[in-house]
Amino acid sequence: MSNLTLEEKIGQMIQLEANEKSELLLKKNLIGSILNSEKKALEKLKQVNKLSKDNIPILFAVDAIHGHCFIDGGTVFPTPLAMACTWDRKLIENIGKITAKEMRITGYHWTFAPNLDLARDLRWGRVNETFGEDTYLAGEMGSAMIEGLQNSEYPVIACPKHFIAYGESIGGRDSVESEVSERKMRTLFLPVFQRAIDAGANSIMTAYQAMDGIPCTINKKLLKDILNDEMGFEGIVITDYDNLSRLHTEQYVVDNFYEASIKGFKAGNHVMMATEKFMDHMIKAVNEKRISINDIDEVVEKILTLKFKLKLFDNKIDESFESDINQLGCIEHRELARKASEESIVLLKNNNDILPLKHKEIKLSVIGPNSVDRVAQLGDWAIRDNYGKKNSEMGTDHNNTYVSVLDGIKSLFPNTYYSKGCDIDTSELHLDEMIQVAEKSEIIIVVIGDNNSYNGEISDRASLSLPGKQIEMLKELKKLGKPIIGILINGRPLILNWLDENLDAIIECFNPGIEGGHAIANVISGKINPSGKLPISFPRHEGQLPIYYNQIPGWHGNSDGTGDYLDITHKPLYPFGFGLSYSDYEYSDLIIKNNEIKKKQKSQLLSRVIGD
Ligand code: NOJ
Repeated sequence: MSNLTLEEKIGQMIQLEANEKSELLLKKNLIGSILNSEKKALEKLKQVNKLSKDNIPILFAVDAIHGHCFIDGGTVFPTPLAMACTWDRKLIENIGKITAKEMRITGYHWTFAPNLDLARDLRWGRVNETFGEDTYLAGEMGSAMIEGLQNSEYPVIACPKHFIAYGESIGGRDSVESEVSERKMRTLFLPVFQRAIDAGANSIMTAYQAMDGIPCTINKKLLKDILNDEMGFEGIVITDYDNLSRLHTEQYVVDNFYEASIKGFKAGNHVMMATEKFMDHMIKAVNEKRISINDIDEVVEKILTLKFKLKLFDNKIDESFESDINQLGCIEHRELARKASEESIVLLKNNNDILPLKHKEIKLSVIGPNSVDRVAQLGDWAIRDNYGKKNSEMGTDHNNTYVSVLDGIKSLFPNTYYSKGCDIDTSELHLDEMIQVAEKSEIIIVVIGDNNSYNGEISDRASLSLPGKQIEMLKELKKLGKPIIGILINGRPLILNWLDENLDAIIECFNPGIEGGHAIANVISGKINPSGKLPISFPRHEGQLPIYYNQIPGWHGNSDGTGDYLDITHKPLYPFGFGLSYSDYEYSDLIIKNNEIKKKQKSQLLSRVIGD
């Protein structure tokens, strides 16, 4: 620290994308971390870093949300919403470990994961990134992932996000304000992050949106009094992407960029993502005595300590990870991806036990837009050219590493015919060809849902219907009178009433990752008994939103039937926790040990509700 100039200290707080500017800053030792750089740029920057003054290691950060997905050849696991269907801590921890390993062997150190937002409004585009709607489940899944990411022999820095209540934004519209009472904050949102802190999370990202008019990023009470003092978080707080500038340009809470930087720093942020101007502002603020060098030192010490913790000052160790590059996307990692995908599949309906399909020779038609669609199957934060249209330069393809649903089914059922049927994004419907194919088969398997154009950041929907002409396609197929099995690949719950009434079986896969095709085929054939349970409620109508299960009843909302809308029930089509299997279960001789809740227990329950 004593070797560093003021500029170099401030530089440690700056994180930018990989470009000529960041290369220049790195040469002068004026930048602390780089985000989402592609592999080639990373290699170049690493060489620059070696020659830079004092050789302070740069941190390479990446959005490895469900595996190291932005690197071609990296293992793409099911998206977090799908992972949560497994309710399997050990599995999620292992996914964290493999993600960390693939990151380190390719030179990355810091992932902006797990996403610990609660999916409270299904219109929100980022539902797929979350572990669902429940505080406890999200805390369990999130802490398991953090432990996997940080505690293996290839450790990386985890970054639970977004602090806080980002999934509660009004109308499900990305990053508009959230209405959060103290009770909700303390019983629903904070406990998930407390779990992450207790699991040792080394960094936390703030949320964009405002509560009570104050954007989380400059909410000092939230970041210092609650996150640091009450919850005991001592790690790095990072802003979201150029959130400092947006305080001025979008959120209108400060008069200029200079004030934005000062407020951001003073509120308790340590690393400023993608805000280049922060350097000049801080120098000015120190000169004008609005910020003290001691305060800056405290933050820089935290950042450098983290770099020491990761042993990054010892170059040899960092590079020895990279000699394991042959393990990127290796068979064991794929096996874990397949297992995760198998465990995440939720059987929603299975009339007359039509599944599993016992005869290998059965004639099947596989019909629908998601039968062969790698973007939909891999999900958000995986195919960068899709996401990149909006944002980054980082190109990824995964074209030759994913197994489509069609290929998976064909590998177990050789008499399989295929037609795309319709397109999700256009009004294309290939009626004649589809009917011809379907007629050849005994059972029709439709592979439907949505794709990445309907999910992700700034991709909120007012309607949760199956997009395009999918329902029309299904109605045509229904006329053939053959059994229909529906396989859903989608980023969030959709309205499935027609499917529930008309299909013989329904399997929900969300975004199952590179091994999805094999996993789905294994479930259909009965090699795997489906065991996934929904981490989120499925509505019957958008007018029911929000529909999360833990709503506090009103006086006319307690007993069956009351609390309904005039025109529709208030109940979901498929509730949180729902999921069938091929086994039959019988419960018998149940005994309630205490038929009364003791006084103390009662008050404990009550204190949880009122946030005592
Ligand atoms: C903005 C997103 O909100 C955040 O989750 C992500 O980590 C950053 N961009 C970096 O890509």
